[in-house]
Amino acid sequence: MRTHYCGAVTAADIGNTVTLCGWAHRRRDHGGVIFIDLRDREGMVQVVIDPDTPAAFKLAEEVRHEFVLKIEGKVRPRPAGTENANLPTGMVEVLTQNLEVLNPSLTPPFQLDDDNINENIRLQYRYLDLRREPMQKNMRLRYRVSKLMRDYLDANGFIEIETPMLTRSTPEGARDYLVPSRVHDGMFYALPQSPQLFKQLLMVAGYDRYFQITKCFRDEDLRADRQPEFTQVDLETSFMGEEEIMNLVEGLIRDMMKRAQDVDLPAAFPRMTYHEAMNRYGSDKPDMRVTLEITELTDVMRDVDFKVFSAPANAANGRVAALRVPRGGEFSRGEIDGYTEFVKIYGAKGLAWIKVNEKAKGRDGLQSPIVKNLHDAALAEILARTGAADGDLIFFGADKAKIVNDALGALRAKVGHEKGYLDGRAWAPLWVVDFPMFEFNEDENRWDALHHPFTAPKDGHEDWLATDPGRCLSKAYDMVLNGWEVGGGSVRIHREDVQEKVFAALNIGAEERREKFGFLLDALQYGAPPHGGLAFGLDRLVTLMTGAESIRDVIAFPKTQRASCLMTNAPNVVDEKQLRELHIRLRNPGGVDKAA
Ligand code: AMO
Ligand code: AMP
Repeated sequence: MRTHYCGAVTAADIGNTVTLCGWAHRRRDHGGVIFIDLRDREGMVQVVIDPDTPAAFKLAEEVRHEFVLKIEGKVRPRPAGTENANLPTGMVEVLTQNLEVLNPSLTPPFQLDDDNINENIRLQYRYLDLRREPMQKNMRLRYRVSKLMRDYLDANGFIEIETPMLTRSTPEGARDYLVPSRVHDGMFYALPQSPQLFKQLLMVAGYDRYFQITKCFRDEDLRADRQPEFTQVDLETSFMGEEEIMNLVEGLIRDMMKRAQDVDLPAAFPRMTYHEAMNRYGSDKPDMRVTLEITELTDVMRDVDFKVFSAPANAANGRVAALRVPRGGEFSRGEIDGYTEFVKIYGAKGLAWIKVNEKAKGRDGLQSPIVKNLHDAALAEILARTGAADGDLIFFGADKAKIVNDALGALRAKVGHEKGYLDGRAWAPLWVVDFPMFEFNEDENRWDALHHPFTAPKDGHEDWLATDPGRCLSKAYDMVLNGWEVGGGSVRIHREDVQEKVFAALNIGAEERREKFGFLLDALQYGAPPHGGLAFGLDRLVTLMTGAESIRDVIAFPKTQRASCLMTNAPNVVDEKQLRELHIRLRNPGGVDKAA
């Protein structure tokens, strides 16, 4: 149909006749001459229609936003003074000889070059939203990133193997999306939370290096960095240990960032233990660009009169900690109140603070709602440990360690970014290593796997699986980039007896083990090689690279925070016949009810 992309017409084409197809981005009437900015995937070109071509001129008068046009015309230089140096096609225009309207358009619900469009409207008319230049860029970058990662893995001997979507539950800590089986009455498949078990079985099967760029499904609470279906760059290797795997995938990310955006990541990513990350940053995915740090005070607060501090300080899993903000004494009461509300999102009951006005004056130089409750020795120790100077502000968290970490960890990132406590780096990658094997679930009164139940314990920690699970560390590692967990993996258990012990520590009984994981326990006994791997969250990586705020901006057809698709209205009610076949009863018998 066409000879050129609109965005590809250049001065080299001057004098030639071209045929272009695209969308009318803008139309301007200029005293007897009509200008249309014709747009396609590659960009925009200015098209001129003058009254000397009366048929085309008449049609052009009817053209509105987003009409689909085909034009044939001659490329000529723009008149002197009207060139646009910002546009690749800005030196030329196309004088129309023939114009055809291939399809008209309704008036779009938003201007395509508006950059402040309500997200729900964008999601409802996603096909229009995706026409916009920023989204076109995001989709291309996403393609490029996955292509580069695929190429790297291919060059390093990995082969891509597909694993099933209709399967048994693969536990990764979220709820499953279930698919009812028509032929097995009352039975369900689960959509995979990850290809974890299949990739391990591929190692047992001798494939040595597997990868797959694939969808995973998790029914969990959604946030800006989570979607119910998302894409992993998933990989697994045989006969490689923690170090070797981390080096390999570090190489993959370094190569991809260099080729995609000419970013030079450090030659070796820094490593930090989980323990240190939680203590100093309150997070297992700290943003290392933020210069603020958390100070431990639990031991200092055991004997103070202030119950808010002494109670958690004396509780088994309590913590009292501080976040010093240099020069934070300038923060207004309103700002401090705002931060107090913010930490409540994470379960904190309050946010005590001390403004250090004049250290030399001792207690009288401190301004705070809590100093009256703290004895001199405690105050002195707070100042010494935090290294506070005149003009600083110290925030406090006191509660269960998890709440204090979540609250102060999030506060550190928020204050750091809002107030500019940043070290100036564009990219701060980090490996978090030495994760505990288990995390105590207080609601259920049992141990849960921190990564997943197939992760190997550190050498020598196996014996504690039965006696002291909380003490076991694992061979798990997370890659963190600018405060986002972009990848996670581990060396796996390749011995059946060890896997049985881990299931036992997780309180999974012998019968349940057999029923749920019998195939894995069997496979481990047929010569399973030592193996391990990792999975990257592709959506998260691309989001960071685009600077977008939400992973929804790098997914063509994402879901809302409530897991619905505003364009197709999924999920939806199905008809009675379908349900009858599945032996499921209708929520609203007698009629198909509309999804709310
Ligand atoms: P994990 O659960 O850590 O590990 O997932 C790997 C990576 O996937 C991304 N991710 C998500 N991205 C968007 N939305 C979500 N809901 C979501 N959940 C996870 C994260 C995360 O780092 N089988 C293991 C990997 C392994 O051990 O090899 C796994 O799935 O970036
Ligand atoms: P109260 O004694 O409850 O009036 O609290 C005194 C100060 O301690 C206020 O600034 C509260 O915001 C703060 N505070 C209360 N509970 C906590 C907590 N669990 N952790 C940190 N600060 C708290």
